[in-house]
Amino acid sequence: MNSIQLNINHVSPFLAEEDILKKSEIATACNQALHDGSREGGDFLGWVSLPSSITESEIREIEDAATVLRTRCEAVVVVGIGGSYLGARAVIDALSGSFDWLQESDKRKNPVILYAGNNISEDYLHEMIDYLNGKQFGIINISKSGTTTEPAIAFRLLKELLEKKVGNEEAKDRIVAITDASRGALRTLATTEGYKTFVIPDNVGGRYSVLTPVGLLPIAVAGINIRSLISGALEIEKATGPSTSFDYNLPAIYAVIRNELYKRGKKIEILVNYHPKLHYLAEWWKQLFGESEGKELMGIFPAAVDFTADLHSMGQWIQEGERTIFETVISIKHPNEKVLIPRDERDLDGLNYLKGKRVDEVNKMAELGTRVAHVDGGVPNILIEIPELNEKYLGQLIYFFEKACGISGYLLGVNPFNQPGVEAYKNNMFALLEKPGYEEATKAIKARL
Ligand code: PA5
Repeated sequence: MNSIQLNINHVSPFLAEEDILKKSEIATACNQALHDGSREGGDFLGWVSLPSSITESEIREIEDAATVLRTRCEAVVVVGIGGSYLGARAVIDALSGSFDWLQESDKRKNPVILYAGNNISEDYLHEMIDYLNGKQFGIINISKSGTTTEPAIAFRLLKELLEKKVGNEEAKDRIVAITDASRGALRTLATTEGYKTFVIPDNVGGRYSVLTPVGLLPIAVAGINIRSLISGALEIEKATGPSTSFDYNLPAIYAVIRNELYKRGKKIEILVNYHPKLHYLAEWWKQLFGESEGKELMGIFPAAVDFTADLHSMGQWIQEGERTIFETVISIKHPNEKVLIPRDERDLDGLNYLKGKRVDEVNKMAELGTRVAHVDGGVPNILIEIPELNEKYLGQLIYFFEKACGISGYLLGVNPFNQPGVEAYKNNMFALLEKPGYEEATKAIKARL
């Protein structure tokens, strides 16, 4: 096995194979539509060919910009929200040492990557400013629209701090902006200040943008091999082309299963991992599917758990709560490191029966035991296996989920590439903050409070 695998054995008690196969033609048509742009959202399909269309000079430009930041900075802050940071964070967390950031700067191989602009917490920003005050830092400011409030506030604060610390000229060399080619306040600001910039293509939406500079630059700054990530994604791009038959199209099979389960009352999909490093992959996945499908009063609610930790909090609900859920488990076949459980002379903890076993063997038995228990408890289980956690297989997973999400949205009958519902809170917030232009909305909302 040198590729992502989809194991659907534990779906069969809930969904007959023939019911999956009945949808093969429609799913193949949805996949084709992602390639020919014939359906709603057809002008947001740039992500479909990102792995095959990125050029050597584009990769080099990203690597060069990463080298500048890596050379000058102990810490780099990725400023962005939603699709403008989750993909980068998913990959960086998955492929960095869990405790790297705790090491002294002179012992670290890579800059510490921090994230701002994904909340408006005053305490968070204050604590970040305090931390950065003593550090050589840089900023990657990412916003496709260039007008999002959360990152704009964080950037204003961090830019001021950086300029005070190192002066305007040096600050310019430590700030990179990633935004639309011509529109938005961030483009104007970057042009005026003379920052290095990268463009987010018009035809790639935020949550599908991890394989553009939005994800690739922060990932490269973190010391991760973006070429392997892209080549992993390319393998799945090639394996799921418009003429791929349904039987071999893993994202299409996954999309059909989740949609058929949804129709049978399974309204919540829980993405399960057994490695804390995958927490943010699940956050990225939640956004991808939640924003793509949750519209027109439809859509699976994407949830996530980190096992085995959450077996001791959410495990009860999953085992015996309302039967409206199914699970999708991401399983890593081989861990990257080896830790054996030692023998203890006195065996006071009674663990000697595990002596000499790898910790991962115990983790795998927890995984297997949980899967069987949850299936017995009425929870369908889809298993996605990768051989190990590295750039190539993460690239495969990313493209697998993006493709599945596009197909799944079309199967559901929604446009998977817009997010009209995100505007509602923004309009209310602007009205409450009395933003110029919102005078009528301000009066209206205040009358309701
Ligand atoms: O997927 C999306 O389009 C959104 O989640 C955006 O990424 C998010 O709202 C941030 O928008 P922007 O990059 O314009 O600041």
